[in-house]
Amino acid sequence: MISSVIANLPWPEISKSLWNSGYARMGRILTQAQCEETRSLYSDTSIFRSRIDMERYRFGRGEYQYFANPLPKLVADLREQLYRFLAPIANEWMYALGIKANFPADLESFLKQCHRHGQKRPTPLVLHYRQGDYNCLHQDVYGDIVFPFQVIFALSKPDEEFTGGELLLVEQRPRAQSLGHAIRMEQGEAAVITTRYRPAKGSRGYYRTNFRHGVSEVLSGERYTLGVVFHDAA
Ligand SMILES: [Fe+2]
Repeated sequence: MISSVIANLPWPEISKSLWNSGYARMGRILTQAQCEETRSLYSDTSIFRSRIDMERYRFGRGEYQYFANPLPKLVADLREQLYRFLAPIANEWMYALGIKANFPADLESFLKQCHRHGQKRPTPLVLHYRQGDYNCLHQDVYGDIVFPFQVIFALSKPDEEFTGGELLLVEQRPRAQSLGHAIRMEQGEAAVITTRYRPAKGSRGYYRTNFRHGVSEVLSGERYTLGVVFHDAA
């Protein structure tokens, strides 16, 4: 059961890594079969609400599709279960930054909040990169309501199925140079990253450092990922 896999993740370490670095590796969450099944959904356009050709919007090169409701069961379960563990950390962050926000304990209540703000379209997506594709540095913000974390799952095997294509994270620090992270993920592995910023400790409390993420160029092969964004889109 995916719920017990999520419940058994090392949450204290994940929380610590999020606080210190703005992201955390979560280890292997999906089996090879789950990865293959999820990426095989990509060709069934009827279960997606929209397809984005990144080059058209100058977002990069490659494409992705947002799932339509109802989400595939595995995706819906991942979103619901991960939210439960991330919401308390999200509230601690907002408190540290003095931001008035209270993320409810369960995803259903949070999505109701999104819907009241006109954000009604589901945001989990599958991304498909071929040789030469990449994703420019960006943030996934789709309205006023923004959950501060999102989770990325690697559905393809690095080296065997593709080379290059690392998850990139850049932390823009005030009055300092930006810090880059390149994250190589094995098939089935997940990483949780901050959506926009993290609280960093200064001499007078916490301040924000801004984050953007992207994907470096895929040098060969094909790479699929599943992105689980928690807030819905306007
Ligand atoms: Fe993104």
